[in-house]
Parts: sequence; structure tokens; C-alpha cells
Amino acid sequence: MPKKLNFHTYEELKASARKALPRVLFEDMANGSGRSWTTRHNEAAFDEVDLVPRAAVGFPERQLSTTVLGTEVSMPVLLSPIGALRMVHPHGAPGAAAAAGRAGTVASVSMMCGHTPDEIARRATGPVWQQVYLSHGYEKCAEYIEAAKRHGFQAIAVTVDCPVSPKPPMGLKVSLSSAIEFGPQLARRPAWTARFLTDGAKLAAANEAMGPRKKQTALWSDMDWLKERWGGPLIVKGIITPEDARRAVDAGADAIVVSNHGGMSLDGAPATITVLESIVREVGQEVEVYLDGGVRQGSDVVRALALGARAVMIGRPQLLALALGGERGVDAVLELFRHQLDVALAMVGVQSVHDIDRSYARTPERWTDPQPAALS
Ligand SMILES: Cc1cc2nc3c(=O)[nH]c(=O)nc-3n(C[C@H](O)[C@H](O)[C@H](O)COP(=O)(O)O)c2cc1C
Repeated sequence: MPKKLNFHTYEELKASARKALPRVLFEDMANGSGRSWTTRHNEAAFDEVDLVPRAAVGFPERQLSTTVLGTEVSMPVLLSPIGALRMVHPHGAPGAAAAAGRAGTVASVSMMCGHTPDEIARRATGPVWQQVYLSHGYEKCAEYIEAAKRHGFQAIAVTVDCPVSPKPPMGLKVSLSSAIEFGPQLARRPAWTARFLTDGAKLAAANEAMGPRKKQTALWSDMDWLKERWGGPLIVKGIITPEDARRAVDAGADAIVVSNHGGMSLDGAPATITVLESIVREVGQEVEVYLDGGVRQGSDVVRALALGARAVMIGRPQLLALALGGERGVDAVLELFRHQLDVALAMVGVQSVHDIDRSYARTPERWTDPQPAALS
């Protein structure tokens, strides 16, 4: 493994990626909106979940594989959709999808990733979920849905937690001239700069092809249109209350992602792991519930599974690993999660991810305190 990919923890990965990216870009992506409270809290809240192991039980082989929406995956760790992925490395979402395929897991790819579904499909060898917004209008969204159909992608995921753009990812406004804004940092990041000089124009063209941003965001009343147009499994991403989870299911969602956009949308939104259980209680019998936000190590996966998630998704670990080593970086981060999850299963004393239940986690009492209803 190349030396730079030799990271053993998320913290090591983050420290190396910080050195690989221009500072403005790193900070734009590593931080959240506002004061990054939600981004920080997503991570910190995992530390509040105690794992409760069983001593003196030993399983020499652990089983990590499971299914998501009927698709077999080698572990319950999937890739979150990330806009502007191409900005950190030209391999972008096609490279991430290739890595996910090698790892036997799902790549969910953002409509804003800077590559087309055709480019992604050419590299993908495993299941792909196409994330969509309505922000660029119904026609643009329909183009992505048609492409997803053409390429046999397994699901579409509509993101519902970002009605406006509080903090546009750099990639959306990037052009070669705006790179000048990075100024003296470019000289300090020669590898990134060299890649950007060859790929930046293509990224700018891809962003241009997206067309103007229209005002609309996906509403509950759009779910019928999405379902009809797509005809396959619909995932609703960006749910953080049981009330909205119920609405999503009533509107026809086949799965939901408990997510606050990694803290990139509403700063002040609760950490996802703190609300997971209430959402699973509401809709977990009817649909699969996934979680992203702050998942940084294998034991976080066990925590989320214990609180009822079917699988987790990783955003920044994927993004920073891609920045560091292109698609080989994503290979490395997925293998790190696999290794850590396997060790965590052994340590808590279960043989399979399916054996993890609520008894393996202890949460702070205040997480289950009665809360005001989110909707009046
Ligand atoms: C730079 C960046 C861009 C993102 N772009 C999108 C996007 O285009 N669509 C989307 O649904 N979510 C997007 N997200 C949110 C991720 O899908 C995911 O919810 C979040 O990153 C998970 O949190 P984590 O980064 O703590 O793992 C983005 C997140 C980041 C950090």
C-alpha cells in the first residue's frame, strides 16, 4: 500500500488529507454550515453510546454481509452521495463507485458529483444508488432518473434536507479562474494543483451542464412523480424526526436515510445517532433505515446497528480518502472499516452483524426524554 494510504484511523486520514488539499477546499468540505455544531456533534454523539460486550464468547469467523433493499452487500457500510467529489480528485464518483464495487458494497452517487451517470456506470461493478435533487428542475431530475434506469442502478435517493444552499460546495462554483482564489495555497499543493489543471475545465463544464439552479426543493407532493417516473425503490434521505419518517413512508418511501447532510445544511440539527432509535421505532417495521453523519470507525457501525439501523453510510471518510489517493484511497478506507467492524464484532462477542441488537448499546437517558412533536 502506498505510504500515504497507510492510515489506521479516521484521524490519521483526516490529517493527511488536510495536507493534500488546498486549505479553503479542505475546510469547506470538512466543516459544516454555520458554526459546524451539527457536524461536530454528529461525531461526538457516537462517543456517548456505550457498547455492552459479552465476555468469554469467541467466534473465530465473523459474518459482516447483509442486504440492503434486497441487494447483497459484503458489509453494512455504504458510500454517501457527495457533490463536488470530482473537485478533490478527478477519479470522483466513478472511482468511488469502482472502489465500492471491489468492496462489495453500494455507491450512492450525487447528482452534483461532477460526473454523469454514464461515466459512473462505465466504472461501476457493484450496486449504484442515484441521488437526486429537484433543485435544477423536474426535467434535469428526470434525465438522471432515465439514466439510472438505463444503467440498471438499484435505487434512487431523493434528498429532502437542503431546501436552500447554505454553503455551496466549492465544486459547484468552481472554474479555472476561481481556482486563482486559492492563491498561494496552490503552490503548496502541487499534486492537487496539477490534477486540477488537467481536470478542472471538465468539472466546470459538468457544472455548467447542470443548468441554472431553480428555486424548487423536493416536497412530499413530489414523491408520486418520483416514484412513477422511476418505477423502482425510492429512498428518502435527510430525515431526522419520527414525524417526517412517517410522512416519508406514507408518501411511498421504500427506505429512509437518517441524515442531516453531515451538518452541511441546518446547523443546530440534532446529531443523527441521537434520533435514530426514535425513527426506527416509528417506521423500522415497515422500511429499512440507514444512517449517516459522523460514522468514523467500525465500532460506530455496531452502535448504529444496535440502535436499529440496517446499514450506515460514510461521507467525509470517503471524500477525504479520495482526496488522498483517488479510488485507491476509497479502497483503503472501505477496507479499514471492514477490518474495524470485524474486530468490533469479535470484541462485543457476536458472530454476525444480524446478531447485534439493542442490548449491545447503552445511550444517555436524555436521548429518550419526551420531546416536543416536530410537527404541529
Ligand atoms: C462536501 C459534501 C458534499 C455533499 N453533497 C451531497 C449531495 O450532493 N447530496 C446529498 O444528498 N448529500 C450530500 N452530502 C451529505 C452526505 O451525503 C452525507 O449525508 C454526509 O456527508 C454524512 O456525514 P459524514 O460526512 O459525517 O459521514 C454532502 C456532504 C459533504 C461533506
